[in-house]
This record gives sequence, C-alpha cells and structure tokens, in this order.
Amino acid sequence: MSGDRIADRRYVDCDVVTAEGRMDDVGVAVIDGKIASVGRVDSLPDARRNVSLEGNLLVPGIIDDHVHTRTPGHEYKEDWETATRSAAAGGITTVVAMPNTDPIIDRVSRLDSVYETADADACVDYATHVVVTSENLDRIPALAGAGIAGFKVFLGITFGDITAPTDGELHAAMGAIAESDRRLGFHEENDEIRAYLEGKFREEGKTDAIYHNRSRPPLAEVEAVSRVCLFADDTDCPVHMFHLSSGSAAEALRDWRQRGVDATAETCPHYLWFTEDVVRDRGTVARVQPPLRTADEVERLWSVGIDDGALDCIATDHAPHTDEEKGVDNPEKSVWETPGGFVGLETQVPAMLTFADEGRVTLPEWVRLHSTRPAQIWGMYPRKGSLLPGTDADFTVVDPDREWTLDRTSLRSKSTATPFDGESFVGAVERTVVRGEVVYDGDDVTASPGYGTLATPADKD
Ligand code: DOR
Ligand code: ZN
Repeated sequence: MSGDRIADRRYVDCDVVTAEGRMDDVGVAVIDGKIASVGRVDSLPDARRNVSLEGNLLVPGIIDDHVHTRTPGHEYKEDWETATRSAAAGGITTVVAMPNTDPIIDRVSRLDSVYETADADACVDYATHVVVTSENLDRIPALAGAGIAGFKVFLGITFGDITAPTDGELHAAMGAIAESDRRLGFHEENDEIRAYLEGKFREEGKTDAIYHNRSRPPLAEVEAVSRVCLFADDTDCPVHMFHLSSGSAAEALRDWRQRGVDATAETCPHYLWFTEDVVRDRGTVARVQPPLRTADEVERLWSVGIDDGALDCIATDHAPHTDEEKGVDNPEKSVWETPGGFVGLETQVPAMLTFADEGRVTLPEWVRLHSTRPAQIWGMYPRKGSLLPGTDADFTVVDPDREWTLDRTSLRSKSTATPFDGESFVGAVERTVVRGEVVYDGDDVTASPGYGTLATPADKD
C-alpha cells in the first residue's frame, strides 16, 4: 500500500502495455523499488523525482529464461558481468542461467557458488536452472528447495557434452520433480537420430554447415517432445520445452496440451526470423542446436506456435562463443568442429518489436510471451512479469518505431558472433529499470556489478 506516501520516483510521459492491453499517456510511481501505482499522472502520488520517458512504451521487465552465462569454466566466452550488461542493454531485467558450465550445476554446493558469483557481478536480477543427470537423482528434493528457477535435462548432446539420463532414470526423476513445486525443462532432441546421422555425414566427409541441420531433423525434436509429454502424462511432472524450433514440434506439443499435459514451451527469435537459408549464406556462424529450419517449418512455427498460442515464451538461448570457435573468418571450418549457438541478449527485444511492427504479433501478446508467462512458469509471478502494485518495479522502455541496423561490434557481450549482424530492426530499447533503478539509460549500462539480486528466493521453512 502506498497510502499518501511521497513516491521516490515517477516514470511519466509513456504508454504502458501489459499482457492485458494498453494504457496511453500514463505513468508509474515507485516506492522502495516496488510499484506504488500505475495510472494517469494526476492520479499518481507526488514524487521526489519525475523521469520523462518521452512518449515511449513501458512494459513489465522482459525476462529471459535461457542464458548461457558460461561461468564457471568458460569465462573467456562470457561471465556474469558481461552477460548481464548485455542483458541490461537489451532490455532484459531478469536472466535465468543455464547449467552446462564446467563444472555443471547439479548440486547445492555448486548452485551456491553460482549465487555467490552472480551476487557479486550481476547488473540485473537473476535466477538459475540446474541440470538433472544419471548422477544426481537423489539430490532433486534439496535442489528444488534451494531457490532454483527450474530443472533441465539435455536429451540431445550439445555444448558441454552432458549425457542424457536413461529413460528409466528420466521417468524416476520426473516422479521426484512432480513432488516439488518446480518445472523440468528439456533440450528436446532425440540423440540417437542425431548420433547416427552425424556419424554418417562425418564418414562421408560432409562438413558443410547445412549437414548439421540435416543431422538434427524435425523428427528428432518431435520424438523428444512426444516422449517427454508421454512421461509427463504418466508422472504429472510439469515440463517445459526450451528453444522449440520447428512447426512439427509445435504441432506435437499442441496435441499433448489438448490432452491435458502440463507442458509449456518457448521459441527463440532466430527460429522465427531466419530460415535455414542463412546457414547456406553465412555458414558455421549460424550453427545452433536445434538448427534453423526450412521455410515451411518456420511458417508452421508461426501459425501453430504464435498465432494459435501453442508457445508460452520467447527466450534467447544466448550462447556466446568466440569468433575463432564460430569460424567467422574461416569458410573452411568444419561444422562438426564448430560449437552451436550465438549471442542474443541485445537482439531479442528489437526482433520482437520488428515482428510487432510487421503486425505478426500484437504488443500485449509480446509482453505475455516475453515477461508474464516466463515469470509464471518459473515461479516469479507476480513479483516479476506484472505491473501490479507492490511488485518489483522492473520496466523495459522501448521506442517501437526507431529503425536501426546491427553492427555486432556494438554488442556488450564478450562474444559477438551472430547471424543477426547486419540485420535491420524496427524498435529499440531506450531504458531498462530494475527494482526502480535505471540500469541502462539508452547509451550506457548504469548499474554496478552486484546490483542484481536472486529473483527466485529459496523456500522458507
Ligand atoms: O546451440 C546451442 N548452444 N544449443 C544448446 O543447446 C546449447 C548452446 C550452448 O551452450 O552453446
Ligand atoms: Zn541453450
């Protein structure tokens, strides 16, 4: 309750968009880092300071549930400070880190070291997922209560070479997670199909980037979605599909959801923006797993995933690797020797705004996909993902009309290889606010490392 208290700050001269709709010419009052009220400026409490947002759009802070912060173990690619500086500049107010680090995050002691590093270095709020392997089934209850966002199983091999649990172990793990209040997310690719096809192409000496796509066909994704949903149906474990890439997999997911399975899913801007043609044009830089898809798959990802609502979230799968690793200046580089993934924290909001400008998604739908649903899915709602009074004053402020073209050298991540280099956008991030404080002012990241706090506090007993 704000009562008659004077607000610390009022953000004014803006239009506010939430998942529910749009309010023109309003403002937001902030007290102690929390939202006091949203409404017409004459209805807001007085404030010590007014900040004009110059007619831009203010939305609930964007949440990215899929960020490879690379620490510990691969700090030369990224660290918590650089990842969260890039996040702040990209309009992201909360990042959720991925556990395929070295060592992997599969036990409470390692989770505690992640929190320690993030507490010292993060510029925006944060949380982390932990991995489930054959080795840590007995640690699931302790991890579930230790403030994690969610669990993750890597069914398909990817950076970090984490082996999937057997189906028996997976089924047991899902039974254990069903007893907790957390969700289990997947890298959903059938690895036996991948291993067979990759082995065959390697033997045949096929090293062109497009063969990586062929080694991970939509079938591998559809099979994994179906297996996971079958197990979820049996165990009542809530599941999530990370980086869903194909229309075929979106259709499979939709069908399982219609049968009542609690399965949520995200896609990433690159699966909506590019077809696999960019792999032919730009080679290994565009390697990512799951891979970019054919035009037909992309079209169906749009129609089933976005238009019909099979997908819940947008996330980056921000996966930094160096230029040398990505073969940026080396057209001869074998795709099999190139890691998958690329950076995305500073291109995802502009990509979504560009889709909004093209009329492919409405602004409230964008907010739902990029803020409200991720907060709900990972246990941060309504503290994050809403603009309700009393919740964290996290805002992303955007100019939906600004046109610009990406020159990757401007990115704040340690790694800048991305197929989005040279792409043009309509829509830009103007300001990022976390718990009432400006962390990015349109030019500079203004937060100090260590400003970020854990967005998913551990259970209190
Ligand atoms: O392309 C990818 N890169 N896909 C993943 O699943 C992991 C990621 C990484 O960590 O580099
Ligand atoms: Zn990933």
